[in-house]
Amino acid sequence: STVPEAPAAPIGPKYKEEEEKPHATVSKPIKHSNVHILPQTPQLIALLTMIRDKSTVRGDFIFYSNRIIRLLVEEGLNHLPVISSSVTTPIGHTYSGVKFEGKICGVSIMRAGEAMEQGLRDCCRSVRIGKILIQRDEETSKPRLFYDKLPEDIAQRYCLLLDPMFATGGSATMAVEVLISRGVPEERILFLNLIASPEGIRSFAERFPLLRIVTAFVDQGLDEKNYIIPGLGDFGDRFYCI
Ligand code: URA
Repeated sequence: STVPEAPAAPIGPKYKEEEEKPHATVSKPIKHSNVHILPQTPQLIALLTMIRDKSTVRGDFIFYSNRIIRLLVEEGLNHLPVISSSVTTPIGHTYSGVKFEGKICGVSIMRAGEAMEQGLRDCCRSVRIGKILIQRDEETSKPRLFYDKLPEDIAQRYCLLLDPMFATGGSATMAVEVLISRGVPEERILFLNLIASPEGIRSFAERFPLLRIVTAFVDQGLDEKNYIIPGLGDFGDRFYCI
């Protein structure tokens, strides 16, 4: 195979010696300041193991995917600006904290990206969520924009772009171009995905150097049908159908 070998690491808490810990494949590292890979914790690796397993049934696939989506959203929110906020506690003392500054919105790339909407809503009450439908044109086999519905004031918002599988990046590139054409500055776009391919990340980082990517895992590569390897198959089918 031409796909480079995946890195393995001992996984587990400190109560065991390193050499006694099980080894698991961890994310490929990516040296780019705008690519943020979730910490490869035992929890995350166990959740990914569940959703990658072809024998995992749909109910479990949804449950464990939702846990990873929650981690991605929480990490994504860490990349939004905050301002100082001092509050008084019930016992009359001051606590110097922060609060979020600025408005956000979600934008899901249909259909699979819609699976990430609830995770965003769970963290950001009444968040506005737009949608973009991009499909491969049968004749040209290039991605084509079929539909979009985005908040009118999207240019004033930080955008969390949602798509679970970042393979070639064809649809995501088109989605980002739609957002930029509506006035969203590249640096206010965060692309959240569960599994990314090194090819997709590389092409994105070159094309949109200011956009931030938050992913749970960078896999080994793509197969001849542009499925991510080892991946988890078709995310939309597993979340919605099978
Ligand atoms: N979309 C998926 O659902 N899975 C892949 O592996 C690639 C794209």
